[in-house]
Amino acid sequence: MCVVAFLPPGSLKVEYVGTGIQERTVHMPRAISRELDRVYELCTHYNAPLGMLTDEALSVAINGIERIKYSDDPPVLELSTSFAPTDPVQVAIGGMLHVLGCRNMAIFHTKSPPLQPYLGAVVEHAPTLSSLDEAIATRYAFEDWDLFTMQRCRDEWYLFWDWQHELRRRALVRPLDKGDTLKIKLGSDFGTRHFLMRSPYPKQPLPSEGYSIFATQARPRDDVIDAIFRDSGECDRLSDQHVVFTVSEVRRSGRLGYSQVVFGTLVNNSTKLCLKLYDERFFAIEEVEGYDDPLVQCDPAQRFNDLMTATYLARNEETIYDRLSELQGSLLPYYYGIRRVELPDGTTVWGLLTEFIEGPIIEHIDARDWSREAQIDFIRRMRHLFRALRYAGVTHNDDSPRNLLCPNIGVRGSGAPGIVLIDFAFSDPWLNDDRGTPPVYDSPTDKPHFRPLLLHVGISKDLVNEQWEPLDELEI
Ligand SMILES: Nc1ncnc2c1ncn2[C@@H]1O[C@H](COP(=O)(O)OP(=O)(O)OP(=O)(O)O)[C@@H](O)[C@H]1O
Ligand SMILES: [Mg+2]
Repeated sequence: MCVVAFLPPGSLKVEYVGTGIQERTVHMPRAISRELDRVYELCTHYNAPLGMLTDEALSVAINGIERIKYSDDPPVLELSTSFAPTDPVQVAIGGMLHVLGCRNMAIFHTKSPPLQPYLGAVVEHAPTLSSLDEAIATRYAFEDWDLFTMQRCRDEWYLFWDWQHELRRRALVRPLDKGDTLKIKLGSDFGTRHFLMRSPYPKQPLPSEGYSIFATQARPRDDVIDAIFRDSGECDRLSDQHVVFTVSEVRRSGRLGYSQVVFGTLVNNSTKLCLKLYDERFFAIEEVEGYDDPLVQCDPAQRFNDLMTATYLARNEETIYDRLSELQGSLLPYYYGIRRVELPDGTTVWGLLTEFIEGPIIEHIDARDWSREAQIDFIRRMRHLFRALRYAGVTHNDDSPRNLLCPNIGVRGSGAPGIVLIDFAFSDPWLNDDRGTPPVYDSPTDKPHFRPLLLHVGISKDLVNEQWEPLDELEI
């Protein structure tokens, strides 16, 4: 853990190294510098992250990993004011181990130089496949790959990378197009294949005021959509039956991202729907930290932990639509299920079917010319949207202007458009109470509670501040 070398009393002087964390200064006599090098070599030899050179009156501490040297008078004075110049060396060593070891654990994760305490235990893993062809023939989804092996076997990770890029290349040959027909498989409800997340905590009932605010933008559900799935033999899981979805508009196809989005209709129904496809071929694994990322070098179990799967994202969205079911049709689109969808090129992916919301994203809204009444109405609806999430214990995690749609609600309101929140792929349901009850929302500075979206559309800060009801005690 720590190498300590002793010099004769009086050998060290403060001016050799100055105070605080710093590189070795030019004033250090060569003999002392050599001793420091020796301590460092011993640290490396014994795998000790900390070293100390002391003449029992003054000491120089060495961070064996970063090789930064710093002197303290007394030792580690910089790190803890509780040391006095007369403290014995043993106290200084204890203090150094405690302060450096506990407070500064990051030193175990630095890349250079070569101390990597965990790596010695990592066993080389063999790839589970012999070739890219084999991968393409046998693997269809990220979950067909074993994360544990990828974390510990470079070849497996590279095969995975090549596999996804080859599938992507093939997908780009046949992007989704207007007029395409997609097959939504019957009996493939997400819950029949995967476990569903449900919060064990009851929601706080919303104050009636909230419901009446949302009611101005309420929309009817199309029960025919539900009936199409119900009556077409949803229970007949073994058959290859499907419902045809005809694409009338491609919102996003062939772009890197966690979803491809199309609008269209089901069989003989004219209600326009939104189909969000979690097509892993376009997931940007380019953004996942690489195999050699220094942050994960010491602990392979941390590698690729930000690699998303379609199942993960679909499960999140399903959970939140369920949790916020009473807000569907006003603040949220109606949810019509997540099912397997066969694309024109034969690939099958998970697809989320929701009500189509006609209207611009909030990014394209300009509220500057609205009446004061309309602006206040809009502020209040945004405020109560935030409250509704808080009362349900939901953290949206992506309250960007891309994820709020603003349908025209006609004469029902003040003239301001509606507010419909989408995209719960990265949301957190309230699963445990380790962060408070309901989970603590991060500070308003980090996560400003949807308020910046109002400034974004051009409503003045003063009006937002004046009309934004303070958080009540359930929200804090
Ligand atoms: N129900 C809907 N009605 C109308 N348009 C929708 C609907 N759902 C999604 N969209 C459109 O598709 C876009 C992408 O949807 P969504 O935000 O759910 O996916 P995403 O993968 O998170 O995309 P992004 O990274 O752009 O946020 C939205 O910005 C919106 O324009
Ligand atoms: Mg989005």
